[in-house]
Amino acid sequence: MIDQEMKKAVLESFENTYGKKENVKAYFAPGRVNLIGEHTDYNGGHVFPCALTIGTYAAAAKRDDRMIQLFSLNQDKVGVVSFCLDDTIAPSEAAGWTNYPMGVVWAFEKRGMKLDKGFDIVIYGNIPNGSGLSSSASLEVLTGFILRDLYGFDVSNQDLALIGQYSENNFNGCNCGIMDQFAVAMGQENSAIFLDTADLSFEYAPIKLDGAKIIVTNTNKKHKLTDSQYNARRSMCEEALSILQKKLDIKGLGDLSIEEFEANKDLLTDPDMQKKAKHAVYENQRTIEAVKALKDGDLEHFGKLMRQSHESLRDDYDVTGIELDTLAEEAWKVPGVIGSRMTGGGFGGCTVSIVKDEAIENFKKTVGENYLNKIGYEATFYTVEIGGGPEVI
Ligand code: GLA
Repeated sequence: MIDQEMKKAVLESFENTYGKKENVKAYFAPGRVNLIGEHTDYNGGHVFPCALTIGTYAAAAKRDDRMIQLFSLNQDKVGVVSFCLDDTIAPSEAAGWTNYPMGVVWAFEKRGMKLDKGFDIVIYGNIPNGSGLSSSASLEVLTGFILRDLYGFDVSNQDLALIGQYSENNFNGCNCGIMDQFAVAMGQENSAIFLDTADLSFEYAPIKLDGAKIIVTNTNKKHKLTDSQYNARRSMCEEALSILQKKLDIKGLGDLSIEEFEANKDLLTDPDMQKKAKHAVYENQRTIEAVKALKDGDLEHFGKLMRQSHESLRDDYDVTGIELDTLAEEAWKVPGVIGSRMTGGGFGGCTVSIVKDEAIENFKKTVGENYLNKIGYEATFYTVEIGGGPEVI
């Protein structure tokens, strides 16, 4: 569902910023929300995200010289940022938001896809800032999609996801898994993606929530230091894996059944590490079970597993915090809430809830008031829809 106002805004801004409108095309890439399967994607486990109808818009055109010029309507005070393809492309603090698109240009060039000429681009997103709905993955995949369109590179949407992840890992310094970029690049309307991150095999699972909706609630938490904490969790899982591999023939924690984990967990003598590994194993099995429940039409069980997922992320993986816990715990108390949990990396950002239509108003009121009372500032609620992948608009 393309927002025509957003499209008009990027095209107008392109003309105002660069003084031309010939050969300019408009593009869109979605954000994502993960329904279940958190912190499993760098452990060779399963995830179950879907693309959203909110995302990132762009207007772009190729240039005749080697300059790249970037402008974001979300960061208009920064102004136009310029690079020359003849200079070394490297991340820098001064480059701000442009580190994401430039990281993708860098990653394309690393893969031998060299840009002969530069381009001009205007970006405008409607994913709430810092909400954990993958505004960065959306921008990365969008950039890759535009490069493919402008330069004719032979890459699949799945490649765009991998290139986006590569640039985020190696240019932007966040050791993220593949989930976000994959959900953005491979999104399909009204379906979530059941992805096995061990081998990238996947299937689309239709989401039919008769009489219920997906509500995303933003904690609006101001400060978060996610990247360092995120990378620390990942390292701890990798260490746990290497210890278990001394005895077990496994490639990732996602290879373990709950029984295998329980029989071998004492090899992990550091209690904190054991808890982190436990989350990775249980959450993966929970995700498989949740998708089965959905296929069987057992939404109630799906909701119970969402709650267990949050509890595990709170108690074992330790990535929630008082804001996310308050939102989820308040949601669980409201009649008509099928399930609720934190979504994305954690420490802030959003929860995802499945709420019956007739309960939505009361859900927003009750959770909203109790959150404000406890935390001191407001949460924001969005009723979201599941959209498709990137496109020319
Ligand atoms: C972030 C990362 C993803 C994934 C989630 C947690 O969104 O970018 O790769 O690890 O956190 O599930």
